[in-house]
Amino acid sequence: MALGGETSRHGMWSSRWMFVLAAAGSAVGLGNIWRFPFIAGDNGGGAFILVYLLCIFLIGIPIMMAEVLMGREVRKSPINTLRKLVTVSKASPAWILIGWMGVAAGFFILSFYAVIAGWAMDYVLVTAQGTFVGVTGEGAAAVFNSFLESPLQLMLWQTLFMVLTVWIVARGVSGGLELAIRVLMPLLFILLIVMLGYAVTTGGFGQAAEFMFRFEWERMGVEGVLAAMGQAFFTLSLGMGAIMAYGAYVPNNASVPGTVTIIALLDTVVAIAAGLVIFSIVFANGLEPGQGPGLMFITLPLAFGQMPLGTLFGTVFFVLVSFAAVTSAISLLEPALAFLVEEYNAVRSRVAISLGVITWILGLGTVFSFNIWADVHLVGERTFFDLLDFLTNNIMLPLGGLLMGLFVGWVLPRKLLADQLEMPSLWLNIWLFLVRFVAPLGVLTVFVYTLYRAAMG
Ligand code: TRP
Repeated sequence: MALGGETSRHGMWSSRWMFVLAAAGSAVGLGNIWRFPFIAGDNGGGAFILVYLLCIFLIGIPIMMAEVLMGREVRKSPINTLRKLVTVSKASPAWILIGWMGVAAGFFILSFYAVIAGWAMDYVLVTAQGTFVGVTGEGAAAVFNSFLESPLQLMLWQTLFMVLTVWIVARGVSGGLELAIRVLMPLLFILLIVMLGYAVTTGGFGQAAEFMFRFEWERMGVEGVLAAMGQAFFTLSLGMGAIMAYGAYVPNNASVPGTVTIIALLDTVVAIAAGLVIFSIVFANGLEPGQGPGLMFITLPLAFGQMPLGTLFGTVFFVLVSFAAVTSAISLLEPALAFLVEEYNAVRSRVAISLGVITWILGLGTVFSFNIWADVHLVGERTFFDLLDFLTNNIMLPLGGLLMGLFVGWVLPRKLLADQLEMPSLWLNIWLFLVRFVAPLGVLTVFVYTLYRAAMG
């Protein structure tokens, strides 16, 4: 029995496939194409990627199932979903904090996400103008660095991206969103395959594969394990309620384990493909894999500058990355938005605009991190952007996942879980083991290990 009834007041996905596309749209984004390669590069490749994959399969997939089932059970915003679940299972209201922390994490993430997505939008124009034809590694780096130096340019694109996101979110669940995802996601996939075909011809492909899949633990630093876990949460959109919010709109006839597995696999395939493409270019051109956030914006232009029809492919590619970012960004806003609409009976579009303005202001901190505040260091060697990224991805998301695992595994009645998941009892027990023990202890172990290593120097 679904506590919240058959449908959500915010709308419903028109089919289970629409849910798969929407959740995959949320999962596949800058996290796969921009963040995964650069974080993997910064942390030495192979061993990092192994830990990342383990986190996806042992922690990410089970927690994603937990988020979807909670959302579908109550069919409200994450905060109200938790409220209801706490009431029916007579648990402590403290669990509702998971929802509040998620709303905060969503704001923080979206604030920098919009800035980076703005870079991709700018690169649509820059690439279309033929800037990268025959460019060298230094040339591509120079283009990128001079772009970063201009706060006004970054703000312009950040603003455009926020307007686009708010506009789509304001229109509601079905509307334009479904259409955009249906057309653009497959296109992005095809273009990645084209790029992969190019990567094989660069001569750097073998080295890229070796960099990514040879597990040398010595290459991974102290924070590598934590970074891998954070990336797993980030790329699957887990730990802050985005997937829970989307779960509220899932029709009852969809299989939670089935859809979640497809979503996670799609996301993983895209990340690995993007990694292979980017590292092939890195090694073919004698570049450094550990270049930080600029990695994608320096390597891909090199490829587009060399390959036949590169200007065309490059332009289309950055268009698709920008759209992949939009379909992710809307899911960062949805939990807070749905909550405010429920609490105050507010108009969706008004709430969307207000939230967009707040996020935009916070995003200025990230804009300035790459120019006028580049030398302002907070907590260690971190810029404002680095700190926000670390705090959300490496702390808040895994912590949210840990708590969700405990809540679903230990607090919710087994009957509710069994009804939602409809798995044979062996599978149900395996899943329960993962959410009760493996996910929480896994996150906890990584936290403690990192603190311990950091304290030891
Ligand atoms: N998963 C997206 C990406 O890889 C980013 C994202 C969207 C996200 N919604 C989220 C990350 C919720 C964490 C939580 O680009």
